[in-house]
Amino acid sequence: MRIAATADLHFTPARFSQLHDQLTRVRDEADVFVLAGDLTNFGKPEEMEPLLNVLVRLRVPIIAVLGNHDFESDRQADLTRMMSQEGIKVLDGSAYERDGVGFAGTKGFVGGFGRGVLTALGEQEIKTFVRAGIDEALRLERAMSQLRTQKRVVVLHYSPIAATIQGESLDIFPFLGTSRLAEVIDRHGADLVLHGHAHNGTCDGKTATGIPVHNVAITLLQRQNPSAVYRVFDV
Ligand SMILES: [Fe+2]
Ligand SMILES: [Fe+2]
Repeated sequence: MRIAATADLHFTPARFSQLHDQLTRVRDEADVFVLAGDLTNFGKPEEMEPLLNVLVRLRVPIIAVLGNHDFESDRQADLTRMMSQEGIKVLDGSAYERDGVGFAGTKGFVGGFGRGVLTALGEQEIKTFVRAGIDEALRLERAMSQLRTQKRVVVLHYSPIAATIQGESLDIFPFLGTSRLAEVIDRHGADLVLHGHAHNGTCDGKTATGIPVHNVAITLLQRQNPSAVYRVFDV
């Protein structure tokens, strides 16, 4: 299966025609199109509507997770409904199988990596914050445990490893993802992990057990090739 992937479109209606032109070939180049979050800039239905106009015209199956920006206006349920109505498979701690390939996806959360992972100790506010990261890891766990396919793809918005956020300021590393997600991925096994969010990160990395992880933030893809608005993977 050829999987085209991108993230962080941060769609504004002003980008409509440009994006439409750049995406037209995705149907010829891939069997599915993965969107790894931050589809909109402020999480408003008024942003999602014109984006959906672009996406439905591509006539390619689309699998997506939401990103933090899609939560900005607290309209994430509305956005999900709008996308689902147009046939987009929105993964939110859920799994989806298509042509023998399993997709497990969730937004993920922040919290840091490795020995730097924030733990639930001290103030209630810290515990609530840490809990949100643990909950996302549990949602991924649930999604992955539903997959019965041999080939498995994980879709996240936040990064599960530090390698694909290299290039960002060290000061913000803990806010770009958490290795709690990678622990789940390594436990269940996967062929490919896709994420976004770290606009100035690094394209390629691996989990501790060697599972390939790719940051498909559109800014990174365009830095390598200005006309590349998605990257195609084979699984
Ligand atoms: Fe983003
Ligand atoms: Fe983001």
